[in-house]
Amino acid sequence: MAERIRLGVNIDHVATIRNARGGEHPDPARAAEIATAAGADGITFHLREDRRHIVDPDLQAIRAATDLPINMEMAATDEMHVIAMDFRPQTAMFVPEKREERTTEGGLNAAREHNKLAPMIRELQDNGSRVSLFIEPDSVQLAAAKSLGADICEFHTGRFVELMQAGDHKLAEVELERISVSAAQAVEIGIEPQAGHGLTYDTVKPVAAIPELAELNIGHFLMGEAIFVGLETSIRQMRDLMDEARA
Ligand code: PXP
Repeated sequence: MAERIRLGVNIDHVATIRNARGGEHPDPARAAEIATAAGADGITFHLREDRRHIVDPDLQAIRAATDLPINMEMAATDEMHVIAMDFRPQTAMFVPEKREERTTEGGLNAAREHNKLAPMIRELQDNGSRVSLFIEPDSVQLAAAKSLGADICEFHTGRFVELMQAGDHKLAEVELERISVSAAQAVEIGIEPQAGHGLTYDTVKPVAAIPELAELNIGHFLMGEAIFVGLETSIRQMRDLMDEARA
């Protein structure tokens, strides 16, 4: 069991707000600095093909703003591979990416993408990055991740959150169990399990309570809440809830 579950703070939406106007404010690097001071354990961003939030010059600015490990989410494209090889994030996380989606809608099909992912994963690992795959919590995807040599799997919590928010607690429980079983299976096969997507103050505790999970990656809710209470406060509150869930 991972004693203390880590909190990775996704800062994409600071850049989304900046980009809505152009210019430099608000600066995602400053968000990385504040998240660091607030006790985050890592900084996550997704450099998308369409650059809708983080843009290329942000990478070095974020690195300069924090000593925390950086988790770079990326599509499995040649362009992103070259950028990640150059940037050398502590973790390179492969996620599926569709231009028309508002956010990452589902997990990667690690089995179907094997031939494309395998050489990229090997090169990134040889280059010093750990590699994570964002997948649905199921044994087929986990087996595919294992055969690809992934270091980490992040399980998609979006469905669990949606069911909770729709008041369907029975199905939410089933989904939570899927995440829990997959986390235990991941540990058994030597992959570090993480989780994230859509998590809020109201939904984080049952996920954080899954003892095998080593890290949660959370962004949109923290940034939305920061509008009202400030980023440091929103992160600290999430941190407290995660600690309560593990207590
Ligand atoms: N994990 C992954 C792989 C993601 O793509 C995202 C969203 O960028 C998150 C976690 C965080 O999700 P949210 O912003 O909904 O908290």
